[in-house]
Amino acid sequence: MTEFTFSDAGKSSAETKIILASGSNFNAGKFIRKEEAAALKTAARKQKFVGKSGSFAEIFNGKTRIILAGTGNRPSALDLQTLGARLYKKIADTATAAVCLPEDDKKITLSAGQTAAALALGMELGGYRFDKYFTKKPADSYPKLEKVEFVAARAVDASPMAAAQALANAVRYARDLCNEPANNLTPEIYAADIKRLDYLGIDITILDEDKIHDLGMDMLLAVAKGSANLPRVAVLQWRGNKDQKEFDLGLVGKGVTFDSGGISLKPAANMGDMKGDMTGSAVVVAAIKAAALQKLPINVVGVVGLVENMPSGSATRPGDIVRSMSGQTVEIVNTDAEGRLVLGDCLWYIEEKFGVKTIIDIATLTGSTMMTFGFEYAGLFANDDKLAAKLAECGETTGEKLWRLPVNADYDKMMDSDVADMKNAGSRLAGGITAACFLQRFVKDGVKWAHLDIAGVDKDDKGHPLTPKGATAFGVRLLNAFLQSIR
Ligand code: BES
Ligand code: MN
Ligand code: ZN
Repeated sequence: MTEFTFSDAGKSSAETKIILASGSNFNAGKFIRKEEAAALKTAARKQKFVGKSGSFAEIFNGKTRIILAGTGNRPSALDLQTLGARLYKKIADTATAAVCLPEDDKKITLSAGQTAAALALGMELGGYRFDKYFTKKPADSYPKLEKVEFVAARAVDASPMAAAQALANAVRYARDLCNEPANNLTPEIYAADIKRLDYLGIDITILDEDKIHDLGMDMLLAVAKGSANLPRVAVLQWRGNKDQKEFDLGLVGKGVTFDSGGISLKPAANMGDMKGDMTGSAVVVAAIKAAALQKLPINVVGVVGLVENMPSGSATRPGDIVRSMSGQTVEIVNTDAEGRLVLGDCLWYIEEKFGVKTIIDIATLTGSTMMTFGFEYAGLFANDDKLAAKLAECGETTGEKLWRLPVNADYDKMMDSDVADMKNAGSRLAGGITAACFLQRFVKDGVKWAHLDIAGVDKDDKGHPLTPKGATAFGVRLLNAFLQSIR
């Protein structure tokens, strides 16, 4: 990660200097010399720079590179994050950079501290890469950016920056987990990694296969049965509000470290993407990590089910009937509909054990939702309008957008079975909705519940400013915004 600092000196010895401008005019005070300002004005005119968001103009005086970066009119935090990511690409090959924050610019509505924080977050998200497995990468292909200094004439409130760095850390941590191949992130390895977060004051319990068995989570165990890698359930408690006994929120995540489909084996094409089938769990863990780093004054508990779905002689068969922790029986008609089996038991566990009254679960649950929304939106399902609206709003502000789909009795009956209380897969119709209906059967009366289906948006194949190619960790920023809103 890059180091971010503030200074009010006006001058800076950084290799690259950046001036934010909402129009063709800029006021850089003492940040650059008069001659430089004049040269930059000329360059801006020649390069037709008018301050449009994400546009740049620049000069190089033989020693220092000076870049004008357009913010556009009234940029949102998300706009500035995107600008930060674009800027990062331009300056990644310099070790030190300084950014001159705008002053008394009517077109910038965010404070200097918020502006700097948004730029820094964008740089950290856009600058993320997963390169630990390259053994022969030339050293000069690695980014060098060590330090970015934000220069402002007046003292800047540094608290938004601290929060942004915490969030960046959490998103990058989640991406690392999601990009990790399944041979190196088995449920056991994953659980051990999560356990290390207790240094942040998060209370972490790892349930092993015996404990999971004793609890009666046979639905989750049915998924794990075919794999040589034993399942784990990780329970993370963040108590930022010690005066309150209850948890404000429960988070549940799908942590299928690899989804082969089991006996209902998936086709070979892109099966490797299923190493990312634990994204929901990583998002839950990272959201709690961010809450701890930010010391949010709320109580939140997370439960993630970590299992590998494999075919073998000990695997669950289509047609098998299992008993869930809730006591309800399930006919497993398709072993590839495994995520809901894991989540159903985790939902029941979090309700029984912690009595949470509001739950959000997040999972790469269905190809159907991916087909519906492509890579633009994640599916939102909820039994409470306020909760749904709040989440959708957090989605808009963070750019991790949600769109609501129905869950109701008509869809729910599609999950009825002839031989058990329910089956784990309906027909091919409305797959994302019927999956949500299945989950809702494990939500107790009176519990407010939302389900986020992030299949598709968990990964970016093309790469965007804030989400370089690979795992996006979709949901960490969204959940962080949500957690900040309930304190
Ligand atoms: N992990 C998959 C869903 C998925 C698909 C995530 C593509 C990311 C990209 C899930 O376990 C699954 O296999 N779902 C099945 C359910 C079906 C068998 C009822 C699906 O959606 O096809
Ligand atoms: Mn599956
Ligand atoms: Zn899956």
